[in-house]
Amino acid sequence: MTKGVRMDAWIASAAPLHGTLSLPPDKSIGQRAVLLAALARGATEIHPWPDAEDCQRTLELIQALGVAVKASSRSVRIEGRGLHDLRPPAQELFCGESGTTFRLAAGLLAGQPFESRLIAGPGLSRRPMQRIVEPLTQMGAQLHGSGSSTDASECYPPLTIRGSSALKAIRYALRVPSAQVKSAILLAGLCAQGRTTIIESLPTRDHTERLLRRCGVTVRRYGSEIALEPQSLTSPGTLVLPGDASSAAFFAVAAACIPNSRATLREVGLNPTRIQWLHVLTRMGASIHTEVKEDAWEPQGTITVEARPLRGTTIEASEVPSLIDELPILMVAAAGAQGRSVFHGLAELRVKETDRIQSMVSGLRRLGTQIRLIEPDAVDIAGGPLRGSVVEGAGDHRTVMSLAVAGLMAQGTTTIQGAECVSKSFPEFFDQLRAVTGSTTVKTVDNR
Ligand code: S3P
Repeated sequence: MTKGVRMDAWIASAAPLHGTLSLPPDKSIGQRAVLLAALARGATEIHPWPDAEDCQRTLELIQALGVAVKASSRSVRIEGRGLHDLRPPAQELFCGESGTTFRLAAGLLAGQPFESRLIAGPGLSRRPMQRIVEPLTQMGAQLHGSGSSTDASECYPPLTIRGSSALKAIRYALRVPSAQVKSAILLAGLCAQGRTTIIESLPTRDHTERLLRRCGVTVRRYGSEIALEPQSLTSPGTLVLPGDASSAAFFAVAAACIPNSRATLREVGLNPTRIQWLHVLTRMGASIHTEVKEDAWEPQGTITVEARPLRGTTIEASEVPSLIDELPILMVAAAGAQGRSVFHGLAELRVKETDRIQSMVSGLRRLGTQIRLIEPDAVDIAGGPLRGSVVEGAGDHRTVMSLAVAGLMAQGTTTIQGAECVSKSFPEFFDQLRAVTGSTTVKTVDNR
């Protein structure tokens, strides 16, 4: 897929999926690895390096803070400057559409004794930032976002940050279960006086905590509390990234739902905070076998999926934080299952790259699914046959990839308008889909 060119995707009903796939390296872990490597003393080599646009934004950001980066196609080498030696940026820091870059960088910059300004692309500029502004302000940084005309208590990018090397530690209960917010506070906590404690009522992905430990930082977990004290970081040397579990979910659902399929996904991240979707698919009746590689710093292994008739399920609000990025593709699994599914607690989907409740309800409806909103944050899906149609990608990578899988499951052909945004997390998605479904199944069409 050519970067920066508007593309549509054309999907025919699939023959069974067969084959073994390697997924792109984990985006969330890669972004954190870069930020922590910048703050550590010594050189860190990260490989394989994701080609995702979001990860590129994180690399550019640390470079603008004076960190030397040497990138080759498959790896990056970062010469860390330590916690207290970043350079004030000469210009605004552009985060593109990467919420993880924006929010984690805000935490990092809150503890630096200079002023910086984070700016965002059009989609990210509509995403809420008060969730990080509130705790970082309590810690003593000054942050000013752009106000909202409808909600005086919310703010949006751009964000001006006047950091401080004398932050104070806080004890903070997350208002939304968000790994980005948790990570921003942990990064600021590295420079704060005293013990920073975060209380998360529902567990979110713990890659920041694991990576901090790899950099020699003591991070304690007591039940739902996570605590750290100011500490310097030492480079972990080499970090090998596992395949992205969220990207794996698209192929796993396709293989689970398209009759006679069998797909093996290699070297995928199996961190328990990221794989609730595997448990959901299993209770829907999917045949899934995982083999965990022992002793990996981030759990990883192989997932093998074979098609089986799936049945509907209920997703509880308490599960949502640990399958936040897989909800769109699980809606597709529910659309192809027998019986009814209900998904609760979806409010956070409204503030992702697009309103994913809206994009998935309208996409699946066009493909013939009976899907309706039963609460502002809950949907009811009646499983049944899908039929091909023309659907909108809504500028959202996960909506596009989910509707592509729905297109494979549908009778007839499906066109997804605006499919180029997959490059945010998974530029090779359509190539890989073609590889496991047959060359005549998927085409991308330049639509300039
Ligand atoms: C992410 C956390 C999640 C997720 C996003 C990546 C991260 O966001 O949706 O794609 O890397 O920490 P929230 O923290 O807003 O839930």
